[in-house]
Amino acid sequence: MNINSILITGGYGFIGSNFIRFLRKKLPDIKIYNLDKLTYAANIENLKDFEEDKNYIFVRGDIKDKSILEILYPKVDAIVHFAAETHVDRSIIAPGEFIMTEVYGTFNMLETMKNFKNIKLFLHISTDEIYGSIEKGSFKENSPLNPSSPYSASKTGADRLAYSYFKTFGLPVIIARPSNNYGPYQHVEKFIPLFITNALDNKELPLYGKGENVRDWLYVIDNCEALFLLLEKGKIGEAYNIGAKNEVKNIEIAKKIVNILGKDESLIKFVEDRKGHDLRYSVDWTKIKKLGWQPKKSFDEGLKETVEWYKNHRHWWEKVKRGEFSNFYKKYYKSEIQ
Ligand SMILES: NC(=O)c1ccc[n+]([C@@H]2O[C@H](COP(=O)([O-])OP(=O)(O)OC[C@H]3O[C@@H](n4cnc5c(N)ncnc54)[C@H](O)[C@@H]3O)[C@@H](O)[C@H]2O)c1
Repeated sequence: MNINSILITGGYGFIGSNFIRFLRKKLPDIKIYNLDKLTYAANIENLKDFEEDKNYIFVRGDIKDKSILEILYPKVDAIVHFAAETHVDRSIIAPGEFIMTEVYGTFNMLETMKNFKNIKLFLHISTDEIYGSIEKGSFKENSPLNPSSPYSASKTGADRLAYSYFKTFGLPVIIARPSNNYGPYQHVEKFIPLFITNALDNKELPLYGKGENVRDWLYVIDNCEALFLLLEKGKIGEAYNIGAKNEVKNIEIAKKIVNILGKDESLIKFVEDRKGHDLRYSVDWTKIKKLGWQPKKSFDEGLKETVEWYKNHRHWWEKVKRGEFSNFYKKYYKSEIQ
């Protein structure tokens, strides 16, 4: 599709910021609006190099606020909706914000869109976690959904709401269901960055349970390529799994990180398992493969590069660990659109 102007939600987060950078390379002339609330998970340094970009417009705002959407929607041809609360552990401690952001926030975005026929595509970013755990084999897009954490349950609500607005109201919705992403700019509370940065500081690596949980690790740039392909060639009303064929146990990842950094495996400490911890996620991504995508990065290569990135960006993650961004955002308000 022909895009002149696009709205990205959650663009200061991990995948959103990688996607904006990716998009800028692919489509140098389009206008990019980044609507982000700047929660603790956002990092304005992720897009520091965009400050001089005249066609990049940051809008601080909440997807739950209809008035900001009504200002932005007339300006754009397409939406990529990343904004969400994303840390499963936090969803176990305080699920309320997950329900409000994922479910109500996505509803608000879709409901508001009914009045804006100029928007040709709503690419909704869902997750493979909505299928729940699978012992053997892989879930297809039409497999039953069986989420088991408040995070994945609220993401399931958002996923199905997006579909319902296609089916019931004819909105041009496409749903992407990526597996676990890793790579540069990921918040240090997440598994791989936490283990890398702790190992760099010779601190313990707290591994849940026996470390037997398996995820299919997708390099974030491979994911960006898949999402971009969906913008161009995805079929309206369809959902697409995005996986990587990189199924690895957490214990193996912990050992790989320790070994890449030349540290001792005794840093790995087994801790009480996460409540309701899904054992294995696996999706069948034949459908997007048929559209012409497949991941390029092997896990060993991607992990080495990611370790290297965190090694070279100590200033970035030390600030995050000290909570400096969260404190700054509480005081800071900058919006280029009123
Ligand atoms: N990270 C993964 O491995 C993964 C895998 C599959 C799917 N996803 C999905 O991809 C999306 C992005 O994930 P991520 O890891 O980059 O997340 P993240 O936590 O790094 O970033 C989320 C961003 O959304 C913003 N945000 C939160 N609530 C908002 C609101 N109400 N209004 C506006 N902005 C708000 C935050 O400020 C932050 O910048 C999410 O929808 C997530 O569910 C992530």
